Amino acid sequence: MESKTALVTGASRGIGKSIKEVLTTDGIKIVSPSRNELDLSSSESIDKFLSQMSEDIDIIINNAGILKVGKHNELSSDDFHEILQVNVVAPFRIISGFVEKMKIRNFGRIVNISSVWGQKSKEGRTLYSSSKAALDALTRSLAIEFASYNILINSVAPGYIETDMLKQCNTEDELNIIRHTIPMKRFGKKIEIAELVKFLTSENNSYITGQIFTIDGGYTSK
Ligand SMILES: NC(=O)c1ccc[n+]([C@@H]2O[C@H](COP(=O)([O-])OP(=O)(O)OC[C@H]3O[C@@H](n4cnc5c(N)ncnc54)[C@H](OP(=O)(O)O)[C@@H]3O)[C@@H](O)[C@H]2O)c1
Repeated sequence: MESKTALVTGASRGIGKSIKEVLTTDGIKIVSPSRNELDLSSSESIDKFLSQMSEDIDIIINNAGILKVGKHNELSSDDFHEILQVNVVAPFRIISGFVEKMKIRNFGRIVNISSVWGQKSKEGRTLYSSSKAALDALTRSLAIEFASYNILINSVAPGYIETDMLKQCNTEDELNIIRHTIPMKRFGKKIEIAELVKFLTSENNSYITGQIFTIDGGYTSK
């Protein structure tokens, strides 16, 4: 994979940073724009980034995502538009911006970082669950469109992973309760997500496309 270049969004911290580190160790060149260079909440910023990017991208990891927690009457339609923009529309725009050149090279690997909340939900997760379910649908649909070009696209759907996002919306007491609801009795590690992404984006993955890979220590099996 030494000659490949990967675009990783949201690589400043959390899961994205781990993905960047693991792919770098594998000899892959990484393009990981800061929010100043690519703000996924802004159509104009995405336009500008795409128009300035001359580099060929072989691998896309749509990792950046936002979470908004609240009941239906606590969040506005602006909140809904914003979460859909960052979690669904932006990945679509990024993929569309690079896929035509991938088709010419007859190679592409794309991973969208989704969530278990795209498959099930919990109180206050209406907007987030809707956005991740839409992202999974996008994965399945684009897989059909791109398959004949050797462009494989999959979702990775983490459960509870040790990150800022996890701490942002749960107290220590809540985290202790949640931990015991996970069959493996622990939260996932960022590197565990990164290792799965590494396989899916490698040439070793030659036949898996359009799938949603849940990685959650057995949480959704119950
Ligand atoms: N943590 C979990 O337990 C968990 C579980 C399931 C799914 N996920 C998913 O995994 C992905 C990564 O989550 P994480 O926990 O690692 O997140 P995180 O620690 O909150 O980091 C989010 C990353 O996304 C970037 N980002 C957010 N909004 C952006 C925007 N408008 N434009 C550009 N970049 C933006 C952030 O950049 P800045 O540094 O500039 O803010 C940061 O690099 C997300 O899609 C999330 O939904 C996480």
